[in-house]
Amino acid sequence: MRKLQAPRGTLDVLPPDARRRLDVVAIAGEVLGRAGYEPMETPVFEDTELFARGVGESTDIVQKEMFTFEDKAGRSLTLRPEGTAGVCRAYIEHGMHKLPQPVKVWYAGPFFRHEAPQAGRFWQFTQIGAEAVGSDDPTLDAELILLLAEIFERAGTGPARLRLSSLGTPETRADYLEELTRFLRARESELSEDVRARLDQNPLRAFDADHAGTQAVMAEAPRLVDRLTPDDREHFETVKAFLGGVGVDFEEDSTLVRGLDYYTRTVFEFESERLGAQAALGGGGRYDGLVEELGGQPTPGVGWAAGVERMLLASDRPGDEGPVDVFVALADGGASRNGFFMVQRLRQAALRAELEQAGRGMKGQLRHANRIGARVVLIIGDGIEVKDMETGEQRVAASVEDALGMVEELLA
Ligand code: HAM
Repeated sequence: MRKLQAPRGTLDVLPPDARRRLDVVAIAGEVLGRAGYEPMETPVFEDTELFARGVGESTDIVQKEMFTFEDKAGRSLTLRPEGTAGVCRAYIEHGMHKLPQPVKVWYAGPFFRHEAPQAGRFWQFTQIGAEAVGSDDPTLDAELILLLAEIFERAGTGPARLRLSSLGTPETRADYLEELTRFLRARESELSEDVRARLDQNPLRAFDADHAGTQAVMAEAPRLVDRLTPDDREHFETVKAFLGGVGVDFEEDSTLVRGLDYYTRTVFEFESERLGAQAALGGGGRYDGLVEELGGQPTPGVGWAAGVERMLLASDRPGDEGPVDVFVALADGGASRNGFFMVQRLRQAALRAELEQAGRGMKGQLRHANRIGARVVLIIGDGIEVKDMETGEQRVAASVEDALGMVEELLA
């Protein structure tokens, strides 16, 4: 029979990597939980229109990267490429504006983007995300950035460069986009074909170009940060002052372009030196117009998402496996029934216990116990023997209770 393989762009997560992932999600839950963020889940697929409206028709995500399919009634559904639109849809749908504001939530789960697979870039990947909906308070922008930095630090992802900018309001942005488009039109012949083709749709992408001619033009292009309204400028200055005040290093970078259209005011991205071309560990920003765009009342929001695969690629932390307390071995003639009951007793006593289940000889069982790091081995034969794997000392137990007592003593 032909061997089957996982589809292109997907990843099997084997032990011990799967454990490391759970550890990272647990770290995020703990850090975010302390700041009042509650877990939340939304569906893995949504109506396609949610992303078309939320993420934006002109984005690469919506134009090229969505896994879109029809249900049996011909409705268009899409595997979620990101989580913010779903959270905002749910916020509106469940009247969450009636809850105390801001509503602070976090999530972790699979996301899907049809991009060319490469190191750190997959069709199915895992994001941890956090969102605070219902307040434009700049402490939220700063708090979320700090929380993400703390999660990276605790997950051992190593040094990351924090780029920060502000995009202002949609009006400022519209005026600015006109100005930028005029500027680019005047120097069209120096731009890459790609940038020229998308000039009217998304002139901001020109800041992202690899093309040398385009880069030279962009070095002289007008910057959005210089066009911010006084309110937006003050908001941005406040966010920066808070970050500076707690000693977070950041680079103000007005060329920062995020691949989603919903951003207003603050945007940021963390890049790791340990990753290759796909260096973005995580990023986010404020989306003060998104809830309204999706049919709700005008409601500000801010958040971020981080890629778990990339965090683990950058991390130097091994998975914390935790020690096996007891391995239950079966001597010649030892009944597996007795071993089975013994291992249940050990687990009831909150010990991590494993049973011989592969028919190995005694030598093989002890070698295996050693490999899994068992501290104690119980040998079940006619009676029960207790072996201290540190000293090698082996003693006979008078009963099951006696054996349990000896185990607890050794583990104490
Ligand atoms: P994003 O920057 O598109 O933001 O994605 C966040 C992170 O997801 C990236 O920095 C990267 O680590 C990871 N990621 C994205 N695409 C892939 C991929 N194809 N393979 C592996 N990892 C990937 C968002 O998704 C926004 N929803 C963040 C946000 C929340 N903004 C406000 N609130």
